[in-house]
Amino acid sequence: MGYTRQELFSALRAQALDVTFDDIRLATGYSDILPEEANLETIFTRNVKLKIPLVSAAMDTVTEAPMAIVMALLGGIGVIHKAMKPQAQAAMVRRVRTYLNGLISNPTPVLDTDTIASVKDLKRRLLEEGLEPHSFPALDSNGKLIGLLTREDIYFCMNDDRLVSEVIEPTHLKAPKNTTIQEAFQEMLKYHEKALPLHDDAGMLCGMYAFSDVARIVTGKQHMHNIDEKTGQLRVAAAVGTRDFEERAELLVREGVDVLVIDTAHGDSRRVYETLAELKRQYPDVDIMVGNVSEGESARRLADAGADGIKVGQGGGSICTTRVVAGVGCPQCSALHECSCAVEGRGIGICSDGGARNSGDLTVALALGSHSVMAGRLFAGTDEAPGTVTKVDNNWVKEYRGMGSVGAMKANAEAMHDRYQQKAVPEGIESVVPYQGKMADVIAQLIGGVRAGMGYTGARTIEELHKKATFRRASSAGIAEGRPHDVIVTKQTPNYRES
Ligand code: IMP
Repeated sequence: MGYTRQELFSALRAQALDVTFDDIRLATGYSDILPEEANLETIFTRNVKLKIPLVSAAMDTVTEAPMAIVMALLGGIGVIHKAMKPQAQAAMVRRVRTYLNGLISNPTPVLDTDTIASVKDLKRRLLEEGLEPHSFPALDSNGKLIGLLTREDIYFCMNDDRLVSEVIEPTHLKAPKNTTIQEAFQEMLKYHEKALPLHDDAGMLCGMYAFSDVARIVTGKQHMHNIDEKTGQLRVAAAVGTRDFEERAELLVREGVDVLVIDTAHGDSRRVYETLAELKRQYPDVDIMVGNVSEGESARRLADAGADGIKVGQGGGSICTTRVVAGVGCPQCSALHECSCAVEGRGIGICSDGGARNSGDLTVALALGSHSVMAGRLFAGTDEAPGTVTKVDNNWVKEYRGMGSVGAMKANAEAMHDRYQQKAVPEGIESVVPYQGKMADVIAQLIGGVRAGMGYTGARTIEELHKKATFRRASSAGIAEGRPHDVIVTKQTPNYRES
């Protein structure tokens, strides 16, 4: 039998020794579950759940809207980075939130006096913002909902000078504001309508359902999607800093962001506590994840200050030079153990951030008390990460850089119209990673590995993994033994690369 967490880490503490992923692995134990039976549901923060324990990092080469959409579709969550204007970040949150459009809370309307030409212009502008509405609610000059301008109304109109009021069908459905997603589905099904605008008691437009999205939600085809059950929309998180966060947070919250992530290199600092207090005061209903820390004391202080989630990891990221440059940080497994123990039983989500290189590392991070794992390097080479695929030394690659690298700091300063400080001290590097294709395939391998680990340890849920896991510590010969050795690799395998 392996060592319990307490046994292992007290023995290590006695030697003043901290460990990270390669140093420890899970002990196997009696199991009555198959990997596919493992339940991976977990939390990101106190009130925001995940169907798989994976989070994409708030980095400009990892998470923008396409990554956040695919993460939520696959059951995890993406944190949209903040190296852009607040308006641009909020538009990305909107793109994710409206991707499924269970309820479109602020549909773009047209006026009965608009021409079809101007509606076509509006469609083009919306497309540039990443929105693709097919139908538009139509309003009269008092702002009252009069009906729906459908894709067919626009398509079959042969004279673009005609007015909206002349082409819409007066018989199209509309419904009162409290119509549920189920009722909307039944109505649209019965009358073969593709959209259903909603009006309030005064007859003013207050939302809209789209049939394709409603049908997907109601018929359960989205069972793996991480959605906000109240609205049927995909969940999404977004990063904020500790300076000038007010406008950014306001716009993000207005677009329905599920979690605000106070994204700093040192979470246990005065400015972070001030930001947390202010965000909690202004948005008591929005969960706040705070980071990063690596000491138990820091995690406890953040918990006492009201954090709903704590991000653990300082200096372990693949592109990170914090330990080299500043001389600080703690090996990730020890940091996870200390931080998760410090806030255990308080309902706070612990997110292991940085340093995970393969699915085995994810299982170990989860077994050490974390509820989710954030990664950058594991996802940066996929189609859904920003940037294009290029060829370096005959290999297809994508760019991956630290947010504290010279390139990212310069780009950030440009985006914010600030002057880049030549004297800024980088704590990250710029690199490329192998091109990896679709996120769905990457996630399937990672999750498959975690399931396998849960099968070996006999843990049916992540909560059970926290309680049941026991560990083995490897010597350097043990670490070498645990990887392919003494052979010449002839074929790439999808879930292992020589590092
Ligand atoms: P990875 O998954 O090992 O590649 O680590 C990703 C994590 O590294 C991110 O989620 C951040 O917490 C952290 N990180 C991002 N950029 C930098 C940087 O420039 N310096 C140090 N850490 C960084």
